[in-house]
Amino acid sequence: MFSARTNWHLQPNNLAQLLAEKKNGGNPILDLTISNPLQAAFAYPVEAIRNVLSKPASISYSPDPIGLLSAREAVAQYYLAKHIVVDPLQIVLTASTSEAYTFLFKLLCNAGDSVLVPAPSYPLFEHLAQLDHVETKAYQLRYDGEWHIDFSSIRNALTSSTKAIIVVSPHNPTGMFLKAEELAMLNSIANNAGIALIIDEVFADYGFDDDARRAESTAANNSSLTFTLNGISKSCGLPQLKLGWIVASGEGASEALQRLEMIADTYLSVNTPVQVALAELLELSATVRAQIQSRTRQHYHFLKQQIDTDSPLSILNAEGGWSAVVRIPNTKSEEEWAIELLRESGVYVHPGYFFEFSTNGYLIVSLLTAPEIFRRGVGEIVKLIR
Ligand SMILES: Cc1ncc(COP(=O)(O)O)c(C=O)c1O
Repeated sequence: MFSARTNWHLQPNNLAQLLAEKKNGGNPILDLTISNPLQAAFAYPVEAIRNVLSKPASISYSPDPIGLLSAREAVAQYYLAKHIVVDPLQIVLTASTSEAYTFLFKLLCNAGDSVLVPAPSYPLFEHLAQLDHVETKAYQLRYDGEWHIDFSSIRNALTSSTKAIIVVSPHNPTGMFLKAEELAMLNSIANNAGIALIIDEVFADYGFDDDARRAESTAANNSSLTFTLNGISKSCGLPQLKLGWIVASGEGASEALQRLEMIADTYLSVNTPVQVALAELLELSATVRAQIQSRTRQHYHFLKQQIDTDSPLSILNAEGGWSAVVRIPNTKSEEEWAIELLRESGVYVHPGYFFEFSTNGYLIVSLLTAPEIFRRGVGEIVKLIR
């Protein structure tokens, strides 16, 4: 009765089972996997957000498939503040960045075509692609004290069915930023292969420092057909308001935009209140963004300080984002370490294999976690993995 592509293995894994048991038993959990900023003890301008969401225009409905002009102008303004000039006509609003991916898969891929995705990476790509009958092929990120794109693995993964290369910058969970030199290589590969770049910048506002080698936002990249993704779930810490966007640039962008308009028109999925409020939401959320920036940086440095040189643990260098990668001893599997941490210390972390790390030996912790929980959780990890 059901489609083959929804034939998922839905059994909870051992870690999820133990977590449920612990929670049902009323045991306190030090949850270091939080990715929802609304559950991480940040101070939101609650009244002001409520006010901008209850404007009279929120009750009107005159949809524009690519998003209300005022909202697209607000997105253009977001880029202008970064000295990037984007025409509102290059922008398509979506109900989330995840939805932006599905629009792009429909735009670029026939059933059975493929897109290249980074490994490690956050696991949603495979599901998003599969639901649109698209295959994912992994290319590798390589760590030698900092993370790099392994271009030979991109070349090896390219086939005649490849339609796009997906890059996440800064990357989840490694924190790698795309460098200008790497973008130049990607442009050249994309042009030679006649394919598009999809650059996910949802964590772009969360760098730990400045690095002159970094590529500026690809919203201004005209050297190949490029789709730059972002949204307010990370940039404003407002995932519940459901708004993302695509900026199309480079040769072929105008035809792409016409087709994207038809795709968006089929769903009209972005709600009016969030579009009407967007300009003010982007301004109001500056304080939330600043709190997230400061916390993620502090937690990253705190984590590094907690690890002595003789510890069996180490923290992989990161440049930004909301996560940190902890290297752990290979004496047990990642899942065994994660289960032991949860059982013995009540600390919940994700094993690296959730994020498609190709070898054993990593745990991922969320830098978004509320400070008290983060410090206690990290203390327990350091104590247990001696
Ligand atoms: C790299 C990356 N892209 C996109 C998303 C999804 O963003 P949205 O909430 O806008 O769908 C996430 C969510 O964690 C993410 O990590």
